[in-house]
Amino acid sequence: MSEIIQSIRGMSDILPDQAPLWDAFEATVRDWLRAYGYRAIRMPLVEKTELFVRSIGEVTDIVEKEMYTFTDLNGESITLRPEGTASCVRAAAEHHLLYNAPQRLYYTGPMFRHEKPQKGRYRQFHQVGVEALGFPGPDVDAEHLIMCAALWQRLGLQDIELQINTLGDAQVRARYRLRLLEYFEGHRDGLDEDSQRRLHTNPMRILDSKNPAMQALIEAAPRLHDDLDDASLAHFEALQSILRDAGVAYVINPRLVRGLDYYNYTVFEWVSDRLGAQSAVCAGGRYDGLFAQLGAKPAPACGFAMGVERLLALMAESAQSVVAAPAAYLVHSGVQADRMAWRVAEQMRAAGIDLVFHCGGGSFKSQMKKADASGARFAVIIGDDEAASGKVVVKSLREVSEQVSVSAEEAIARIRDARAVADIEA
Ligand code: HAM
Repeated sequence: MSEIIQSIRGMSDILPDQAPLWDAFEATVRDWLRAYGYRAIRMPLVEKTELFVRSIGEVTDIVEKEMYTFTDLNGESITLRPEGTASCVRAAAEHHLLYNAPQRLYYTGPMFRHEKPQKGRYRQFHQVGVEALGFPGPDVDAEHLIMCAALWQRLGLQDIELQINTLGDAQVRARYRLRLLEYFEGHRDGLDEDSQRRLHTNPMRILDSKNPAMQALIEAAPRLHDDLDDASLAHFEALQSILRDAGVAYVINPRLVRGLDYYNYTVFEWVSDRLGAQSAVCAGGRYDGLFAQLGAKPAPACGFAMGVERLLALMAESAQSVVAAPAAYLVHSGVQADRMAWRVAEQMRAAGIDLVFHCGGGSFKSQMKKADASGARFAVIIGDDEAASGKVVVKSLREVSEQVSVSAEEAIARIRDARAVADIEA
């Protein structure tokens, strides 16, 4: 026999045992986004390569090394999306979404980066992305940070640290670029190959380098803060003032530059020290130049994206587990009983009860074992006696109690009542 074909490295299946935690996470996230007035948008998983090159930046790790880029059958270069902001801005511009009013939008789904897989870093990973388009801030920048803090609370996550920084406007960064260039030119010998190449194209990217041999050089590099103008400082100060009032703790990290080129003014990352090297669970900032950069009418914007796998790892670590079990498992045997069972099963589901119908036959005893293993709270049993009387037997699988023989309607009422009590106790 040939070997089983394996999944692609860095791209995982989400198995049924893990899926309930994903579902619970996604349900919480949807409620949270609704509470802040954000509406869903769904973009294609594939875009023209040019979109990412022009937005994320030609001289970035993502565009230089990590994109899944193909030539399609029409000879066009297309790329599996490595992130969602570029597509979201493209969609907003293409469909004139900002014509009448600014937009609060979100998207969820897989992103693709050909990185070296390790714990918390995958080649297919999932993001929840949030974008506020058409807002100059800093109020909306603050809204994003306040809403993240609220989400960590809803998810029961503690110890996620907020780091913020400002990158100023384009002129600030142009001045800073010159100073960095001068500094790194003077230390050319200390630069690795990547950084030498980036020196003249995008020296700020050298600050992103994870190469341990370069950390001392990077640490001693000039800081952008010395170049900041009054408007950038005022924006940053106003943001901090709202955060202080809201009780959202933060630290200023002057080294935080982000790995994508489209940012200006506010940038931020939420980090946890419980995730090893991949510490950022959520990151983003302001990108006022991106609409114009993509050829659209200029519009200010800001947003962030969180890494779902990393947040779920934190949730699992804090011993949060979610089990999805049906309310009832229907055990049945006998020709007439089987026919009745199909009817009762649909009647119960129509009444809102999740029910697994036993398939595959077998003795009552073996079916009851399967009912127990399913995690269901009740077994609903239909045999020849029930087929004759029109009643069903309801047996609790989770606590010691007498089994009862009742009408299907009565069985529905009992299972519902038990669920209501369980919900109250939870
Ligand atoms: P990013 O920092 O590249 O930003 O990604 C955001 C988050 O996605 C990271 O903080 C991390 O949690 C998660 N993430 C990134 N790469 C991986 C990976 N290979 N495996 C697992 N998780 C990963 C963006 O993507 C921007 N689009 C965020 C944004 C939205 N800025 C403005 N609006």
